[in-house]
Amino acid sequence: MYKSINLSLFILLLPFLAISQNSNDYNKKIDNLLSQMTIEQKIGQLALRGTSSRVKGGLSEEFKQMIREGEAGAILNVMKAEQMAELQKIALEESEHGIPLIFARDVIHGFKTIFPIPLGLAASWDSSTAYDCARVSSIEASSIGIRWTFAPMLDISRDSRWGRIAESPGEDPLLASVLAKAYIDGFQNEFKDNTSLLACAKHFMGYGAAEGGRDYNTVYMNEALMRNIYLPPFKAAIEAGALTVMSSFNEYNGVPASASTFLLKEVLRDDLAFDGFVVSDWNSLTETIPHGYARDERHAAELAFKAGLDMEMTSRAYENHLKTLLENGTIQMADLDIMVANILRTKLRMGLFDAPIPKDNSATLYYKNAHLEKAKEAAIKSMVLLKNKNDILPLNSSKKIALIGPLADAPHDQLGTWTFDGEKEHTITPAHYFQEKTDQISFAPGLTFSRDRSTHGYADALNKAKASDLIIFIGGEEAILSGEAHSRANIALPGKQEELLKELKSTGKPIVLVIMAGRPISLTNIESYADAILMAWHPGTMGGPALYDVLTGIREPEGRLPVTWPKSAGQSPLYYNQKNTGRPADSTSFVQMYDIPLGAWQSSLGNNSHYLDDGFTPHYPFGYGLNYSSFIYSELDLSTNKISQSDSLVVSIKLTNTGNRQSTDLVQLYIQDVVGSITRPVKELKDFQHIKLDAKTDTEVKFVIYPDQLTFYNNDGEKCLESGMFNIWIGPNSASGLKSSFELFD
Ligand code: NOJ
Repeated sequence: MYKSINLSLFILLLPFLAISQNSNDYNKKIDNLLSQMTIEQKIGQLALRGTSSRVKGGLSEEFKQMIREGEAGAILNVMKAEQMAELQKIALEESEHGIPLIFARDVIHGFKTIFPIPLGLAASWDSSTAYDCARVSSIEASSIGIRWTFAPMLDISRDSRWGRIAESPGEDPLLASVLAKAYIDGFQNEFKDNTSLLACAKHFMGYGAAEGGRDYNTVYMNEALMRNIYLPPFKAAIEAGALTVMSSFNEYNGVPASASTFLLKEVLRDDLAFDGFVVSDWNSLTETIPHGYARDERHAAELAFKAGLDMEMTSRAYENHLKTLLENGTIQMADLDIMVANILRTKLRMGLFDAPIPKDNSATLYYKNAHLEKAKEAAIKSMVLLKNKNDILPLNSSKKIALIGPLADAPHDQLGTWTFDGEKEHTITPAHYFQEKTDQISFAPGLTFSRDRSTHGYADALNKAKASDLIIFIGGEEAILSGEAHSRANIALPGKQEELLKELKSTGKPIVLVIMAGRPISLTNIESYADAILMAWHPGTMGGPALYDVLTGIREPEGRLPVTWPKSAGQSPLYYNQKNTGRPADSTSFVQMYDIPLGAWQSSLGNNSHYLDDGFTPHYPFGYGLNYSSFIYSELDLSTNKISQSDSLVVSIKLTNTGNRQSTDLVQLYIQDVVGSITRPVKELKDFQHIKLDAKTDTEVKFVIYPDQLTFYNNDGEKCLESGMFNIWIGPNSASGLKSSFELFD
């Protein structure tokens, strides 16, 4: 008996023993290397060298010599397989200690086969979609020797003006955390083989909270907001094993994030127990100078070093100054050794020391059918149906269609932001695919690109519209209008798209509006022109086939909004998990600006928190999206109305598919902690499930709520679980659902 217990305990402990054996081996190797490396070689490991796009032509002798001398730990944007192989060979065979290089690239939502933009992937609310994107990206990128991607971007975004909302996982910490884990699993794949990419959780920290949605801008954040909203996806990524983190460009409460001891040591290392390495963003270390935090480059190196920033991307403050700072005693060798060890340990864990120099096998992997299929599936799962008047969708196949709009045949733009390597020649556009599938379609773009202000194409578009039964208008934004440094103060359709839509409306033909964009678009001026509205984001390589399947009803649009959709930019930032305020907006007292009686007395309208013009509700709430079927939620039931702090609670609902086709609904569970020691949001997403149901069938959907899901962080950064009343909703989005409540007691 005693023996068998010991044996099973031993078997249970085996994986942990193996890990600690590995880490012992790693430590020995690291100590051994550190004892032999010169100061210059150590500083070299902290350098991420590269170019802004790619090395053109051959590699310079100077570049190769830098590797030979051990003056770089990683290389960015060298994109030819043979060049990476040559540099790695130099590092392994000609540098003194044979330490391998990590080759890095921004592989954000696909390498060659491009998936929907990350905000679109978030709209799938589906971890396997995010996983597939990361896995396919890794397989394609690693085929030429890339082993590190600067993804996933995990900045919570509440502001549609911010260009980088396109790269984000949306506004909700739970959804972003689920996606974070899936991306890390897909990229790193537990470093099982050489198709794994080192992932990089970015941008640490608070980058999405920049004032006014202006990129790189100032962030003021308190502990509670950071720990409840912005930190959870990073925590999830680190728990999933993310081995690198990128520090952000923004300042955070007056200190640039790339030189913030609080963020990089206290939060990241101490609280999240991160044991990989931190890389700066592009020059973000030396940007501490224009921020007004560092006096000069040497001071910048000192501040970032002391804050615990391990690797410097592109700027050269460490290379230029760390040696002097060590020699004059400003910084210590022991701290340098910790940083070098962080980088070496990561290289060991990802198996880089043992990895053979890659042979280019990209030819068999780029745009493989299986990859294209996954990209198509992801595009379908990301599309969100916002409006479907009189069930105009799915399309009736006998209808003659006029396909119009600047994004209908925009192979580059439908790939979206951050697609350095996807080739537009491989993109299948709607215009191309629809015309191949049916002769019921005639195509006239009307406008040739999203910002086009010429009316030259109108006549052709209007003629084709008049000769058809229905118009599909594919509009939106070119890829360049979202992404880094591409914020907009006005988020309406650019160019003359609104005007063209108005002209098309005058033909009397029904209009299906498909939007391809990197952010929610203000629909205030055009919503009434469209009978159906479908958000396709920038859908990637397979956008055309995916859209065809969705519009014709072969598939359903399965996406749900991962961000609140504002009526106008002026409503931003706008998010569902807002605070109630002391004077919450209220439809019974709200008077729209044009309904205010002339000469109305100052406080005659009530004093609540709203805009006189755009009110207080969004155009579409977080979590929203329609099906081609219809669902009814009924019989909300709680296993008990009182739980102790160690109990759990089962909540269930009856979901009925009342429509005529099989369909999937996203059942969402929200809670509200009614009274807290600090005020709590009006709603918080706590769980969700995709439920597929045949036509005219129902099922019971159950969730279990554990006390841990009811906790929050207070202004001192302490985790709290407070007794009291909680409201609970189960429904199809954040603005509707059945409501009940329960009490948590001590
Ligand atoms: C700047 C961006 O902020 C970051 O996301 C990206 O990974 C780096 N540049 C490298 O290109």
